Amino acid sequence: MGIKKISKVWGDESRAVDLALDWAKAHTVSGSDPKTTFRSASELYAEVGFTITEEGVGPEEAIRIYDEVLQPATRSCDDPMMLSFIPGAPTRSAVAFDTAVSAANVFGGLWEMGAGAIFAENQVIDWIKSLLKWPDSAGGTFVSGGTLGNLAALATARHTIKEKWNSIGRFQNGRPLTGFKLACASTAHSSVRTVARVLDVEVVTVPVDKRGHLTGKMVAQALDENPGVFAVVCSTGTTNTGIVDDVKDVVRVAHERGVWVHCDGAYGGAGLAAPSIRHLYDGIEDADSFIVDPHKWLFAPYDCCCVVYREPRYARQTFSQHAEYLDLTQSDIDPSDFAIHLSRRTRGLPLWYSLVTHGTKKYTEAIELSLANSRKVADYIRRSKHLELIVEPELSVIVFRRLGWTDEQYRSWSHRLAIAGDLLCVPTKHNGETILRLAFTNPDTDPDLVIRLLDTTMN
Ligand SMILES: Cc1ncc(COP(=O)(O)O)c(C=O)c1O
Repeated sequence: MGIKKISKVWGDESRAVDLALDWAKAHTVSGSDPKTTFRSASELYAEVGFTITEEGVGPEEAIRIYDEVLQPATRSCDDPMMLSFIPGAPTRSAVAFDTAVSAANVFGGLWEMGAGAIFAENQVIDWIKSLLKWPDSAGGTFVSGGTLGNLAALATARHTIKEKWNSIGRFQNGRPLTGFKLACASTAHSSVRTVARVLDVEVVTVPVDKRGHLTGKMVAQALDENPGVFAVVCSTGTTNTGIVDDVKDVVRVAHERGVWVHCDGAYGGAGLAAPSIRHLYDGIEDADSFIVDPHKWLFAPYDCCCVVYREPRYARQTFSQHAEYLDLTQSDIDPSDFAIHLSRRTRGLPLWYSLVTHGTKKYTEAIELSLANSRKVADYIRRSKHLELIVEPELSVIVFRRLGWTDEQYRSWSHRLAIAGDLLCVPTKHNGETILRLAFTNPDTDPDLVIRLLDTTMN
């Protein structure tokens, strides 16, 4: 134990520390409560008022407000029966180590400041590179989520291709002859369109095949018709239906045309560690950039996205910052150069701690178990007379309809189970139709319990 530090200004904070860490420990052990849900800001204000005062209210009152009012007004993301959106399912070890990361308070932007912690994060990136079968020279960093990971990768793609086009005379008066464009399927995650808006580039929507895949043939046609496309986004796990685009063909036709391929594996990237579905990702070995959100299916807490570049120097050329106070401490392995950030939390460490603790085999086991659970539920739906699968599942997302139901029936069934804390299965839309969707990322989900609850759709 270190010597207790008493600040001249803050005084002895032991009580505040104990209360916060005791709360964190209790919550780490118990996980979150599936019955909690959102409340309106006016309701919350009526209960707690403006909590920030000139004199402060002391740690007992601060933690009481949080524990009794604010935390219960958040929705549990890691309960095993939370199967909507993309659930999180962090290991207890990873959650606990997130608290340790805060306590260590490492500046993770520069190697000089955070070497040991960055070294550990880089070993996690090395493991992800090995799943991708990428060369040792590949590298990247951790950002807060898939949206920022996609932005970092696509900003790097645009900067890199711009330089290349410049060198081959595709610019006139500093402007690209054709205008920059980004190609993706309509099924790509919404963040890709937001990134296009931020980068001020047009989106070319490439038609998908009947089952929702982006194919090499359609990408080739789109690229030939749109010479300004600098990158194609390939989803390795679409959010709504869990479909993996035809990576191999897309990479081939894009590279034949000098176009960058970014693979968005925010959700599905974890499947690279699952032998039963690894073949779906064939071709990813040759992609240019890749993201995966460990807070989705790699059992880490929020917020954590790993962005990896085949050639990290392109990211460095895009993002590095220069200033008198920085230049002497910079090196070519600084995480600050691999995305749009300078100060950064070493948010890859909770995953590192959990991976080192459990070993990678356990990760494979956990991902395969969530796949097996999803397949069991999909089989039940296939056999059911009143439910119908909409897309044959490829990963761990299942989309299905309840024959004959109105939007209102979907909503009220879902709401009843959510309020009881039994199951979170929020309706979604597919080609304009309201349907049900289940996403399995938590190995502790009991598929038999899910099936029993789906039986209630018969009533
Ligand atoms: C495929 C895909 N890409 C990107 C994102 C965005 O990730 P984040 O919410 O971490 O920004 C998501 C989120 O669900 C996703 O499923």
